[in-house]
Amino acid sequence: MDAPITAAHDDARSPVLVAYATKHGHTRLIAERVGAVLRESGLEIDLCDLGARHADARPAAYSGVVVAASVHAGRHQASVERWAKSHTNTLATRPTAFLSVSLTAADDTDEALATTSRMIEDLREKTGWNPTRTLAVAGALLYREYDIATRVLMRLISRQHGAPTDVSRDFDFTDWAAVEQFAREFAALVAAPAAQPA
Ligand SMILES: Cc1cc2nc3c(=O)[nH]c(=O)nc-3n(C[C@H](O)[C@H](O)[C@H](O)COP(=O)(O)O)c2cc1C
Repeated sequence: MDAPITAAHDDARSPVLVAYATKHGHTRLIAERVGAVLRESGLEIDLCDLGARHADARPAAYSGVVVAASVHAGRHQASVERWAKSHTNTLATRPTAFLSVSLTAADDTDEALATTSRMIEDLREKTGWNPTRTLAVAGALLYREYDIATRVLMRLISRQHGAPTDVSRDFDFTDWAAVEQFAREFAALVAAPAAQPA
């Protein structure tokens, strides 16, 4: 469920922070696509890799914050959890969005939907950050990026789930139109007077 914004954010003319964490690069592409849509909507953006050494994005400097993280072994990157937890109070005072990238999100069964919701809920509980908007995004199988052990593991898991097993190529399951739509709606939220306190 969407969270209310509990206080006014500073200034709709401040840039929007688009922060992300990625293991094999797919979530960075998603963050970049979100950033491109926000720019097209007339907003300035700063892109920040929260997994990078010395990453120190301060949400107080931004009119809105988008975070994208991928799921590995059932959880989002620890760097995102740490960062969100240390900025919970500031994040509550402006529009924020969270994109959870996983292969579970490529599946539209009730069980998969429950799993992606639970993973997002886990992040809320661990960090205390209650994003204004959330989206579960189907990720990618990047066989050509994986080391041998990961490739074997992912092929095995894919076979069990009826996903592609041709390791000579990569498979992108992301609904890019849905990502762009989500970004457009977030841009409107940042610009809207409705971003004032409820
Ligand atoms: C080693 C490994 C473990 C993964 N574990 C999960 C998982 O537990 N649940 C899930 O839904 N997807 C899982 N995935 C799929 C990733 O979330 C998906 O490939 C995503 O696109 C990765 O994004 P990234 O390249 O930005 O890290 C896993 C992928 C890898 C390579």
